[in-house]
Amino acid sequence: MAFSGLFLDELIRRNDIVDVVSQYVRLVKKSGNNLFGLCPFHSEKTPSFSVNTERQIYHCFGCGAGGGVINFIMEIENLTFADAVHFLARRVGMTVPDEAVSPEVRSRRARLLNLNRDAARFFYEALKSPDGAAAREYLARRGISPEVTTRFGLGYAPDSWSALCDAMIKSGYTARDLFEAGLVRRSGRASGGFYDTFRGRLMFPVIDVRGNVVGFSGRLLGDGEPKYLNSPDTPVFKKSMQLFGLNLAKKTKSGTILLVEGNIDVVKLHQAGFDGAVASLGTALTEEQVQLLKRYTKNVVIAYDNDAAGVKAAERALSLMENSDLRVRVLRLKGAKDPDEFIDKFGRDAFANLLDSVENHVEYRITTLLAQHTLETDEGRLAFLKAATEMLSRVSNAVEREIYAKRVAEISGVSADAVLTEVKKALRARMKANARRQEARERNVRAAIQPKSREIRYTNEISALAEEGVIRLLVLDCELFKVLEEYDFSESEFTSDYLRRIYDMIKLRYEENMEISPPLIANALDGAEAAHFTKFISKPESLSNAEAAMRDYIKKIRAAKAAAQATEDPEAALLRIVRDKSGCGGYEHGT
Ligand code: UTP
Ligand code: MN
Repeated sequence: MAFSGLFLDELIRRNDIVDVVSQYVRLVKKSGNNLFGLCPFHSEKTPSFSVNTERQIYHCFGCGAGGGVINFIMEIENLTFADAVHFLARRVGMTVPDEAVSPEVRSRRARLLNLNRDAARFFYEALKSPDGAAAREYLARRGISPEVTTRFGLGYAPDSWSALCDAMIKSGYTARDLFEAGLVRRSGRASGGFYDTFRGRLMFPVIDVRGNVVGFSGRLLGDGEPKYLNSPDTPVFKKSMQLFGLNLAKKTKSGTILLVEGNIDVVKLHQAGFDGAVASLGTALTEEQVQLLKRYTKNVVIAYDNDAAGVKAAERALSLMENSDLRVRVLRLKGAKDPDEFIDKFGRDAFANLLDSVENHVEYRITTLLAQHTLETDEGRLAFLKAATEMLSRVSNAVEREIYAKRVAEISGVSADAVLTEVKKALRARMKANARRQEARERNVRAAIQPKSREIRYTNEISALAEEGVIRLLVLDCELFKVLEEYDFSESEFTSDYLRRIYDMIKLRYEENMEISPPLIANALDGAEAAHFTKFISKPESLSNAEAAMRDYIKKIRAAKAAAQATEDPEAALLRIVRDKSGCGGYEHGT
């Protein structure tokens, strides 16, 4: 099963190894980028398990275990690679793209890509043909040169119901192919006919970074609605994952990607030599597009339209990119509604000057806030200060925070210290809110472990989950009692009376050489208890690694107990767990 590199990169980036490992192992900072804890993969009393925060890997000097975050989850949760990927994706709320690409799907995609390429050729030829005269005139009127028209492979969809459809069917494609590619639509008539999606439009092929024509964007030559028509989502096209122009912009030598709104802006900017321009096809910038950008650049300049919608979209794009390590700046157009018009009016050098003076994101926000508030009145200044400190508290770089706090202080005529104090207050408030959210998340996890029936309540959910695991394994293979003996596991370690009762029943049967069958045990329980028993007993558990799994559960039970007792700081807790003879690990189950 193959996941895309892009997806895996993102998965690994979002699942910081320290966060993930910390749900199982109590980590203590030791040196530089390394955190240490007791190895969850072998039994030890002094920590030799290390996690490198920078390289995002773990390594145990004791048993040699090691790897990245996916390996860790495979090991500790006993999962296959694919399942570990799904596990981590769920953890951060990512959806796993369709990874199982069967040969049929692959050949289907190849066919659609071929069709798109042939359609693009058809549109391109149509633009050169007598039919394309009006489109050629339109391009000339918009100041788009034949050279750049060719570079982008622009074309013309004839004003006809079936020109493309007919041509493609002649080339051997089926109506179904055309329909799947979004190039034709079904007509309402009962005959089940089709008609061309794009008619009488200037066509912009959307080409992915590998050079495939994945979809189209078509603009009317005149006024009318809708001005642009885009390909629908197809097996080869997800609008939210593409950026128009990136196939060319990825090669820019400028080191900067210019993010604009319109396809026309992209074409015109490239023509003027700004070959880093891309556009997001009429959708608000998405997380996927940011990830895509990050593969090709470290610098982004947003040059959205100079209207209310553009300012709002820029604000959104800024906050989306804020937490990536992209350097994002915003360009303010003056005297023109978009880059296309700006270049027409003032020329390419004027645009280059604008680019040179572009504001970084904090400056941009301060300017925006200044435009929104009057500094003439006390109320106005107060409101500005409030908004500015709140904004500054979101700036992750402390040096930047300080510099701009000074700037804000100067602007509003108060002391820099006062501003910084306010910024810190806002920062603390948000950290507190984050902690509360984190707590709520944890509560949810715990709530999910609780049995449905109110008759059974777990006092320590984390331990109870592992206790359920012990029982599940014993039902699968009662020989595993040996592992419990090896660890001196006593039934008093059960935190749930309900689970202890079940355990006792199983143990009794084991000692008397009687069969341990789930129905027999369920029969001895009352309704709600039996229901929950059957539920947790049927969770998947692999017998291939059963002994290791049993050891893990014991460790988790003991670590949960230690954690419940530990109100001291983590370092002291670790020391205590290390010293505690009965404890096998600084272990915590966090799923
Ligand atoms: P604009 O209206 O700014 O288009 O929409 P533009 O490319 O600058 O065109 P001109 O200069 O008016 O001729 C920005 C982008 O939003 C998408 C298109 O991708 C367009 O390039 N859009 C716009 C749509 O998808 N549908 C629409 O109806 C309008
Ligand atoms: Mn425009």
